[in-house]
Amino acid sequence: MDNSVTVLILAAGLGTRMKSKHAKVLHRAGGRSLVEHAVGAALEAAPAGRIFVVTGYQAERVEALLQPLGVRFVRQEEPKGTGHAVAVCREQVDRRDGLVVVFYGDCPLITGATLRRLVEHQRGSSAALTLISTRLADPTGYGRILRGANGSVEAIVEQKAGTPEQLAIQEVNPGFYCFRAESLWEHIGELDNNNPAGEYYLTDMVRILRAAGDRVESIFHEDALELMGINTRVELALADRLLRERTARRLMLEGVTIEKPETVTIDAQVRIGPDTVIEPFVRILGNTVIGEECRIGSAAILEDCTLEDRVEVAPFTVLNGSHLEREVRVGPFARLRMGCHLGQDARVGNFVEMKKTRFGAGSKAMHLAYLGDATIGAGVNIGAGTITCNYDGVAKHSTQIADGAFVGSNSTLVAPLEIGAGSYIGAGSVITKSVPEDALAVGRGRQVNKEGWAKRRREKRARKD
Ligand code: UD1
Ligand code: CA
Repeated sequence: MDNSVTVLILAAGLGTRMKSKHAKVLHRAGGRSLVEHAVGAALEAAPAGRIFVVTGYQAERVEALLQPLGVRFVRQEEPKGTGHAVAVCREQVDRRDGLVVVFYGDCPLITGATLRRLVEHQRGSSAALTLISTRLADPTGYGRILRGANGSVEAIVEQKAGTPEQLAIQEVNPGFYCFRAESLWEHIGELDNNNPAGEYYLTDMVRILRAAGDRVESIFHEDALELMGINTRVELALADRLLRERTARRLMLEGVTIEKPETVTIDAQVRIGPDTVIEPFVRILGNTVIGEECRIGSAAILEDCTLEDRVEVAPFTVLNGSHLEREVRVGPFARLRMGCHLGQDARVGNFVEMKKTRFGAGSKAMHLAYLGDATIGAGVNIGAGTITCNYDGVAKHSTQIADGAFVGSNSTLVAPLEIGAGSYIGAGSVITKSVPEDALAVGRGRQVNKEGWAKRRREKRARKD
């Protein structure tokens, strides 16, 4: 990776227009925070150790989030503007040569390819700065690019400072710069805050470099949406949609069938194997990994799950943090949470909830059950309405059910409990003591039939009337 490129990502602002108590760059689109997307693109253009993220507002939260990516941080104690944010980097950045890419942490759609194109242009040029420009039908809010008579870039004027003629210009500054390091660090101290916002504008560097006799070049980028900066929740929703379209498209090109892709929500990091079918309105979130030839039914929600090959998830099923081995079938209307593990070919049907439960190969719980803190072997049958009573009001207790056991319908299993291999539990039992291997356990009131009782009662009532 290119060691001569330093990247500065500005992420110290509050983001007033989001109307939020959370820093703008922490808001999420496409399953990741805005600043994680920005860093992701930067990592395709420079090594992690050459990427500096400028933090300020909620710096601890932003830094904690990005720490695992190996990037470095510079604190901007007061948000005095984008130019000030770069100026505070001067002392901390340990190289004064090469190239310095600067862009904003609120641009989640930018790709590594576009950053590399910017770098390559500046590398082959004698200019002090190359910036990306684009055209917008509605340029409101963006800095406008002012060009001289010969077409060269002369200055950028901010929305708040522009004259009506300048504000009519549709060529805008989306905020991606590649400086020759020497020129940037030599002149960054010349910025001032004599403007309507009282901020140090990074965009004034264009005017300053031109005044020093340097050249500024631009490369035009057609796809303005890729360069979009997020300032409001309306733009956040648009970015979210575009990022999800990108993910769905990538997966489809990798061999995943997605029915009505505009209705599904799939986070950026999700991986799915070929010939898997995703039905409409599915949500697949977090670090979910899905194998080949699976089917995910309509309106299912999967978060941080691993599904091996040929798993079928029927509609309206909710799965969190669980692992499903090959050929497992779950749902419709099933819920697995907190580290469940289902063995090969296991089946879990409608209105079954499992929590922290291991469920062995080929075992079945087809209807209406709650299995919590349980370890269940292979080939076990859990009858409809079975409940593990895992909580006594103070502590949680576990239930062990060994291979081949048959738990009759509507059984109440009061934990802690061990149910032996091959044993049989009569329907409707309340089981409070462990059951030995191969035994029958029945724990319910014995049935009594009173001959003629109902008929006598009817006759008695009839006499009263
Ligand atoms: C900026 C540009 C504008 C451009 C637009 C593109 C300037 C002066 N203007 O305006 O020309 O068209 O982006 O999206 O640069 N930040 C800091 N410290 C600060 C201020 C901001 O780190 O003191 C960070 C923010 O966290 C944010 C980014 O810089 O991620 C951009 O700031 P923002 O206020 O959104 O700039 P714009 O007004 O959009
Ligand atoms: Ca912005």
